[in-house]
Amino acid sequence: MRRTLNLVLPLATSVACVSLCYSFLQIRTERRNLRNELTRRSAIVAENIAETIESSRDKVTSKNLSHLLYRYVPRESLSGIVVYDPSGAVRAITPGLPVRFDQPPPEALRAVKVAAPASDFVAVEGSTLNIYSLPALQDGELLGIVVVITDSSYIQARLMRTLRASSFTALVQTIFITSLAFILVRWNFISPLANTAHWLRTLRSGVPDSSRALPKDEMFEQIHAEARHLAQDLNFARAAAQEEAQLRESQSLLWTPDRLRVSLQSKLQDNSLFVVSNREPYMHVFNERDHTIEMLIPASGVVTALEPVLDACHGTWIANGSGNADRDVVDSSDHLQVPPSRPTYTLRRIWLTPEEDRGYYEGFSNEGLWPLCHIAHTRPIFRPEDWREYQRINQRFADAVVQEMREVASPVVLAQDYHFALLPRMVKEARPDARVAIFWHIPWPNPEVFGICPWQTELLDGLLGADLIGFHIRTHCSNFLATVDRALEALTDWDRFEIYRQGRVTRVRPYPISVAAPLNGETPHPLRSSGEERAALCDELGIEASLLGVGVDRLDYTKGILERFRGIERFLENYPAYVQRFSFVQIGAPSRTDIPRYKQFLEEVGVEANRINARFESGRWKPIVLLQRHHSHEEIARFYRAASVCLVTSLHDGMNLVAKEFIAAREDNRGTLILSSFTGAAQELRDALLVNPYDVDQLARSIRQALEMSEEQQGEVMSRMRKIVLENNVYRWAADLISDVSEIRAQSSEHQEAMHAQ
Ligand code: G6P
Repeated sequence: MRRTLNLVLPLATSVACVSLCYSFLQIRTERRNLRNELTRRSAIVAENIAETIESSRDKVTSKNLSHLLYRYVPRESLSGIVVYDPSGAVRAITPGLPVRFDQPPPEALRAVKVAAPASDFVAVEGSTLNIYSLPALQDGELLGIVVVITDSSYIQARLMRTLRASSFTALVQTIFITSLAFILVRWNFISPLANTAHWLRTLRSGVPDSSRALPKDEMFEQIHAEARHLAQDLNFARAAAQEEAQLRESQSLLWTPDRLRVSLQSKLQDNSLFVVSNREPYMHVFNERDHTIEMLIPASGVVTALEPVLDACHGTWIANGSGNADRDVVDSSDHLQVPPSRPTYTLRRIWLTPEEDRGYYEGFSNEGLWPLCHIAHTRPIFRPEDWREYQRINQRFADAVVQEMREVASPVVLAQDYHFALLPRMVKEARPDARVAIFWHIPWPNPEVFGICPWQTELLDGLLGADLIGFHIRTHCSNFLATVDRALEALTDWDRFEIYRQGRVTRVRPYPISVAAPLNGETPHPLRSSGEERAALCDELGIEASLLGVGVDRLDYTKGILERFRGIERFLENYPAYVQRFSFVQIGAPSRTDIPRYKQFLEEVGVEANRINARFESGRWKPIVLLQRHHSHEEIARFYRAASVCLVTSLHDGMNLVAKEFIAAREDNRGTLILSSFTGAAQELRDALLVNPYDVDQLARSIRQALEMSEEQQGEVMSRMRKIVLENNVYRWAADLISDVSEIRAQSSEHQEAMHAQ
């Protein structure tokens, strides 16, 4: 109320002041007009009389003049008329005039002096008189003075009436405008603000009041945007806290493959899980040397993450058969039981022609969507012909999924990554009873960035066919919701992270992927210390170095490898004491080498490593050892254990499993992780040395800090990070994801009932 008065009272005062000023001017103008009118009337009378005097000169007698004067006197307000002769004696006078008019009044003498008419208002005996004096002249000779006296009190009375009327109008206006302002202020500002405040209050208390929505008004749009962001942040924080609490509670037991198996078996029936990914878990290739078929496990986090899930519930994995001997090992339905050593699940291979692979995989997926979703400053390329292949291949995989699950009731489909954005809708349309989830392994950019894709609507529509969409971190989930908000007609519920569209609901949730910690696989030399492993590796590499750093990546422009090399160069420039001591081993698996940008990047990495080596190397020491080939997990684990520091400097990364693998490998609680803050992993591993990979000086400082960190501090930091990685391992990721997707049906029908009931 006080705020309303603060707004309304100055307005009321201003309106009253303006109205009063206007009344004052009106009265002044009216007074001037009335006086002019009176003077004009007196002038006519005086001029008539003066004309008579001038025309008849000596012939007009005082008696005639008196008659003449009498003719005018009955006029309204005219008090009287006097005619003086040139000497000032009264020649004729109407009766009833005050005695002061027995002689010419000073006003009349002034008129004579200037030989011109004069009109004056004087107060006489309590009233105001107008004295109009006109000298009667002939050829410059004064024949007499005509003085017309009028009682002008009526002007005052008229003005008083006007004043009363305009004061009344001013009062009415002030009341009207003030009341209107009061109503408008309350209507347009006070109550929307009160609603906003209430909304924020309920949001803070965590019990949103659905009866009060944020007012929809363009004037409040900015406040709303801010309030929504605030609400979003609050929800994130609350959800994160909840997640943390849940995690704490459920972390009484570490997640292991066995625990996952038990957990999934209670949630899924045997054979009811169908995984779809582009990359297959096992690849068969011809070995040209001895004409045998070799089996490879591709370098892909997706494979590591999903194998234990399939293992646990004997499902089917549908993937692109990309090995050149793949066709030689499948049965007539393109099936193969894997893992080869102890088969537990089915691999169904899909065959693509080189043209299809170019359009769907190289073109649309990796030249379009990959750079689009990674903000790494490589321009996405969108070719209509690639898009057509992408649509066709998504349909091909969807048909295969539908075919594989034809005998399974309520199957669960887990699609993987950006290669299959359209597949969820295609599957859901064919099998509405299927529970469909898709996990997006790469970042989801903000709506502006995603909006440049010419087919963003189709991609979003395809994805929203899923019941559940998973991202690594909450920021990607909110970017996705914001993109849907911007691009489609859909209802996004920011409190529950759900999207309602065409009578269906899609949940959007973060599931931070992880590694299979404690690490699978054999440790080749379990008794070797970090220093011994380093010495052995240096021997094998033919170098001499007392400190090793390591980086492990697919050779991809998003990984910040060039930036990392420049950071190492700056480190050696700034801290020359480390020259001849510190060597950095970059393990780089060539990747997507048929794509020109990747081919070019491969060269750039080699050229940059050579340039830096040429600048510093001497004897058996060199700053950068570049190993451009695929390495097995065991080979990589040796470097992890030998390194003093591991550098992960992605320019943008959904999660980055190298960071977690390095931590999982450091059973000795030693070594330091330098981690780009633009990775999803940086959200969990806050104890790492977080860096901006574009800041070369910061990189150099961080390498030094890592190498000079005391063993005690390394131990503290590493054990904290190990706890996080071990407790949030890939089994937990899979359990959370599958348990959410398997619960969907009940939740979804409840929801629909609730929606129908509304
Ligand atoms: C990323 C993607 C995966 C992909 C992997 C390897 O991690 O998210 O889907 O499998 O890179 O890439 P490639 O193109 O060789 O399968």
